[in-house]
Amino acid sequence: MDIVNLILQALWFILPAYFANSSPVIGYKLFGKYNYPIDFGKKLKDGKRILGDGKTWNGLAFGVVVAILVGWLQSLAQATYNLSGFLPMSFQLAFLLGFGALFGDLIKSFFKRRRGFERGKSWFPFDQIDFILGAFLFSLILVPFNWKYLIILLIITPAIHWATNFIGFKLKFKKEPY
Ligand code: CTP
Ligand code: MG
Repeated sequence: MDIVNLILQALWFILPAYFANSSPVIGYKLFGKYNYPIDFGKKLKDGKRILGDGKTWNGLAFGVVVAILVGWLQSLAQATYNLSGFLPMSFQLAFLLGFGALFGDLIKSFFKRRRGFERGKSWFPFDQIDFILGAFLFSLILVPFNWKYLIILLIITPAIHWATNFIGFKLKFKKEPY
């Protein structure tokens, strides 16, 4: 199969998860100081936060809603245009992808805290792929496992992440190039 087509199909499938992963920071900023940490500020016996202040209920809810909206737009597009070969997106699948993505992100933060990384510190490659793994896992409730999509996404996601951050840095939206 044509590799470009396969990459486009994989991106179409994971799109709600990409949006879920990148939108919580907007939700976080919108709510200002009314952010509720998912771990309620609690620490474990190791003296470190369960998840940390970077994981909020606000961000989680916002991310899932954005994912569902994106999936809904995708399903409208597929009802209008004949996108043959592309997995049909649905409201339900978009919810699973969005929730799964942010759940994967929470699991990552749990282990990140245990390893002693402060909130926001880079933990390559887990910061980049946590949400892909979570989204895939939850999507299995509705769609069969597609190892081609998984391999492609695990390779191109860190690359896209790096490229967008670098552009953001060059445009002076970000202080660091990573
Ligand atoms: N965010 C949120 N709620 C979530 C996920 C993310 O409010 N469930 C917001 C937080 O403002 C967070 C930002 O989105 O700082 C970026 O998310 P992420 O990079 O996942 O969090 P980090 O701050 O890097 O925290 P960690 O070290 O735990 O990954
Ligand atoms: Mg981070």
